[in-house]
Amino acid sequence: MKLDPKGMDFRDLHHLLAGAVVPRPIALVSTIGENGVYNVAPLSSISIASVKPPLLSFSLSTRRRKDGEKKDTLRNIEFRREFVVNVPVVESMAEAMNRSGAEYPDHVSEFKETGLTAVMAERVYAPMVAESPVSFECRLVQILEFGEHPSVSSLVIGEVVMAHIKDEFYANGELQSNQMHAVGRLLEPYCRTRDTFDFKVEYTL
Ligand SMILES: Cc1cc2nc3c(=O)[nH]c(=O)nc-3n(C[C@H](O)[C@H](O)[C@H](O)COP(=O)(O)O)c2cc1C
Repeated sequence: MKLDPKGMDFRDLHHLLAGAVVPRPIALVSTIGENGVYNVAPLSSISIASVKPPLLSFSLSTRRRKDGEKKDTLRNIEFRREFVVNVPVVESMAEAMNRSGAEYPDHVSEFKETGLTAVMAERVYAPMVAESPVSFECRLVQILEFGEHPSVSSLVIGEVVMAHIKDEFYANGELQSNQMHAVGRLLEPYCRTRDTFDFKVEYTL
């Protein structure tokens, strides 16, 4: 079958794209609001935008059922221009991560609601998620907006200015990502990453 995206609504387009781009990694992006409240939200649109400079990107869509309201994460990043990307979400954090995706009013901290632990970052004004294997402190580089009200997607690009890695996941100068037990996302369900395999392919970095 074929699907022509022209004329498809937001929900169907989301299902088409997110049903095919699988498995997606999940990041917890943590910020501080203008009101001082610590915020954390799960985002599966996380990706590497550039290696040198080290840039991470993710996309935030507006809340269409709330007249295109911006999510707290986007408002906080626009205000502070700093944030932390905590990756990957691992099995022991999965339930808290899932709960942190619920819609809380901006005066409620998802850290308090989920039991995730906030530790202040060193170089940016944002909290890190202490349970996360890696936390990247980021400064905002650019926000690109696509679409029209009420369905706007904002692609946020940030430069990593400091990386925090749990010692247990670092050996021989490399991250031990196969030890982390990361979880990913299919269209809706989550998946585990314990079942790995390897091919020997030669390519240059
Ligand atoms: C696993 C998972 C992945 C998600 N990925 C995204 C995403 O990439 N972009 C987005 O706008 N919302 C995504 N969401 C929904 C947001 O986390 C949700 O709208 C949240 O309430 C936003 O919180 P905030 O208002 O504190 O920023 C995801 C939710 C879950 C559970």
